Amino acid sequence: MVNTELLYILKRETGYISGEEISGQLGITRAAIWKHIQELRNLGYDIAAVPHLGYKLLSLPDRLYPWEIKYHLKNKFIGKAVYYYENLSSTMDTAMDLALNGVSEGALIIAEGQTEGRGRMGRLWLSPKYKGIYFSLIIKPKILPQQTPVLTLISAVAICQALKRHLGIEAQIKWPNDILVDDRKVGGILTEMNAEMDAVHAIIVGVGINVNNDKGALPYPAGTLKEAVGYEINRLILLKYILSYFEDKYLQFQRQGVDRILEEWRHFSATLGKRIKLSVVGKRQALIGKAMDIDYDGGLLVRLDSGLTERVVAGDISHCKQ
Ligand code: BTN
Repeated sequence: MVNTELLYILKRETGYISGEEISGQLGITRAAIWKHIQELRNLGYDIAAVPHLGYKLLSLPDRLYPWEIKYHLKNKFIGKAVYYYENLSSTMDTAMDLALNGVSEGALIIAEGQTEGRGRMGRLWLSPKYKGIYFSLIIKPKILPQQTPVLTLISAVAICQALKRHLGIEAQIKWPNDILVDDRKVGGILTEMNAEMDAVHAIIVGVGINVNNDKGALPYPAGTLKEAVGYEINRLILLKYILSYFEDKYLQFQRQGVDRILEEWRHFSATLGKRIKLSVVGKRQALIGKAMDIDYDGGLLVRLDSGLTERVVAGDISHCKQ
């Protein structure tokens, strides 16, 4: 078990801190401190130990450990409980199991790698270990099943804001759930629910982001954030920004409804105003038209060439060359 109190002392301290000082603060022996230091080192923390000076944290490992996610995270409920795994088949399944077994709203299920990460329409989501960010959030909102796509809108806006404010990346949203940078897909959102006709029991919002992935291993036209900025990105800090913006947007939605989220979504949209080709679930022929707007349940309003406006709630689109 990692001693987080000791770790947090080391994180707060800019210089060396003596074993005696730590021992006084934590009420444990210097031998116990040494044991915990070894445990932290085994987890990848680089800690200097110098006689007569004490200990100093030199660097953190590139891991999304729960105690690191929670450190200085100001959220009220999103990410307050973290279920961390080195490997999972899919965070979606683990999250749904936990949600239906009483785990509360806001719990974060995160994996360093997934063997069967999935996207919409049964597609595979490549999830190489330690390269990307792969997580699911448990949400238990008081909404109707048809309003569930709002959670996808909230997530997409939160991700784009985090990328803009933390990394200066101008990301865009391709309806319904793709995050694009320079027209390449760098992230995706998968929203699944357990519901009855008029009540939602649990929604699982899954997010996958290609952060430091090796570009060659990804299917074209996928991209990575590393390629967009030109350096290795700190996954932990980015994740914390996303969680924090997600909570802001979700609380805003609960207080004021969906209008402000839609405004922000429109701002980040790569789809609105474009000519698009739509493959609609249940229809054999693709439709072509102009994406005009998004509505309060996340449906896309498309003006078809025939002049009719179609409201699309599920399907795949491609942006046509105008
Ligand atoms: C898509 O673009 O179709 C959505 C991709 C969602 C991938 C994430 S990774 C974390 C979570 N677990 C999964 O199996 N899928 C989502």
